[in-house]
Amino acid sequence: MPSTLPPSALNPAARVIFLTSALPYANGAIHLGHLVEYIQTDIWARFQRLRGHEVVYICADDTHGTPIMLRAEKEGISPEALIERVWQEHTRDFAAFGIQFDRYYSTHSEENRQLSEQIYQALKDEGLIEVREIAQMYDPVREMFLPDRFIKGDCPKCGAKDQYGDSCEACGATYAPTDLKNPVSAVSGAQPVTRQSAHHFFRLSDPRCVSFLQDWALASGRLQPEAANKLKEWLGESSPRATPNTTAINHSAEPGQASLGDWDISRDAPYFGFEIPGAPGKYFYVWLDAPIGYYAGLKKWCAENHRDFLEFVNPESEVEQVHFIGKDILYFHTLFWPAMLHFSGHRTPTRVFAHGFLTVDGAKMSKSRGTFITAQSYSDQKLNPEWLRYYFASKLNGSLEDLDLNFNDFIAKVNSDLVGKFANIASRSSGFVVKHFGGSLLQDARLLAPGSKHAQLEDRLAGSAESLAQAYEDRDTARLVRELAALMDAVNEYVDAYKPWELAKKMSDPEAAQTLHRVCSTTLRCFARLCAAVAPILPATTDRALAEVFGRSNGWRWKEIDMPEVSQVQAFSHLMARVDRAQIDSLIAANRS
Ligand code: MSP
Ligand code: ZN
Repeated sequence: MPSTLPPSALNPAARVIFLTSALPYANGAIHLGHLVEYIQTDIWARFQRLRGHEVVYICADDTHGTPIMLRAEKEGISPEALIERVWQEHTRDFAAFGIQFDRYYSTHSEENRQLSEQIYQALKDEGLIEVREIAQMYDPVREMFLPDRFIKGDCPKCGAKDQYGDSCEACGATYAPTDLKNPVSAVSGAQPVTRQSAHHFFRLSDPRCVSFLQDWALASGRLQPEAANKLKEWLGESSPRATPNTTAINHSAEPGQASLGDWDISRDAPYFGFEIPGAPGKYFYVWLDAPIGYYAGLKKWCAENHRDFLEFVNPESEVEQVHFIGKDILYFHTLFWPAMLHFSGHRTPTRVFAHGFLTVDGAKMSKSRGTFITAQSYSDQKLNPEWLRYYFASKLNGSLEDLDLNFNDFIAKVNSDLVGKFANIASRSSGFVVKHFGGSLLQDARLLAPGSKHAQLEDRLAGSAESLAQAYEDRDTARLVRELAALMDAVNEYVDAYKPWELAKKMSDPEAAQTLHRVCSTTLRCFARLCAAVAPILPATTDRALAEVFGRSNGWRWKEIDMPEVSQVQAFSHLMARVDRAQIDSLIAANRS
């Protein structure tokens, strides 16, 4: 058995990156909105690996909480059976979209239980846990406390009917569920009553937490500017504002004063989760053990790969810890999670990268419009997953802005960029090389014909590597895709200028034959460069190109943008099909309900 390796043993010069995407809830199907995040993270992971860095990409199902408990009950199965089935569905969907996790685990695991207990105990030892009685809505028929989302009633502000217990969809007011008029339990239909219960709080209002978070957020590159500003608001450095989690906000804080409130981390039985040690009938709130699930997955991966977990999570660790999340869960990842880690003696996140929300054809995803599109239906309709990877890459720019999946734009981008510009480069030049030159390519034009038009083109593509790398690093794949499209245009214009199909008619003329060989070789060498550059976005297509066009099987390397290691080509069938409107229409029809 290999001995335990330090994180950087594989390549001392390389970065080691512990990378995560948010853990999807185990009570629903993966949809295209989720995929924005997993595709964005996977592209970044593949880019880092291509550059020779070590990436440990961890994710898991988020399995605890009331909605999952009630969903299992409704289906007449145990929560364990539900989360096992959903785990199979989620891993199948992620695999179909080429998301390459190093480990996909579950928050309902022994590692997660132990880590949650250990972190809780450490926070308690620090004096940061406090138990106090609070009043909550209770369903007397179902005999359970009700989360805000399971209470409905009339808005206390505008009177709109059938609103949730935390906010009004009609007027946008946010309030406590106890303020709702004519409340009913969404579980049993009974009228809820108010009941007292002891809850465990993480004392985030402690000045140590506030000052730690202020320092943590200051580090450059840690947070996007928009996210850093939000955090400042939450920490009370600018005017306080309503935030998504009312249980963590101290509404009585004066403007300008720290507005961070304590965080309620316990829930009463019945609850599907981990029971709090020494507190029978009390469970860790799902959001306490969910981020710890990142560490549980990492710990599992370490055990399976003979690596030392502590090398990754100790406060002096040199491993980068990077979280990709949606902007809706920024609060949990920039306040609670770093504070939990720090005060339990762990290292804290190096970077938290948030993205915006997906809309489809300009509107929120909707089941009635058929735009709440599941990953599974996309695969079932035989649409190419790499079309979506490319399209999302073309829209993501590293900011928190929302992005729109516009199907006409999707069709245009796939057909004009991917098929028309990219795949076409290989098909319009390789046949001549196979037919007239035994499939063998000439060397780099910069060596054999310095100063020529051929050399200039090769030089232009070779020179793009650093700028492309920076775009990947910044998650500005929108810029990256624009640059790649411009390079594809340059290659296609070059082919158009030399017209290889005309040269091929004059093979008896040695000069025409030589030019044909030169042009096709340069074109295919540029195609190889483009493959290396786009491999993180289109892993399957570029792997096929490598095998079917160039007859190689060892994977693209980033340095091939400068100097592609290709010397021959062979006949191949087309690399990528076009998408047509009928496929999109049937996808939408399959999702309409
Ligand atoms: N379980 C929590 C995360 C716990 S992380 C310790 C959760 N799950 S989720 O299933 O609702 O969302 C998972 C991720 O997908 C989140 O980062 C969320 O922002 C993202 N998205 C869900 N719907 C989305 C869109 N429509 N658009 C973009 N991202 C979306 O939150
Ligand atoms: Zn209202």
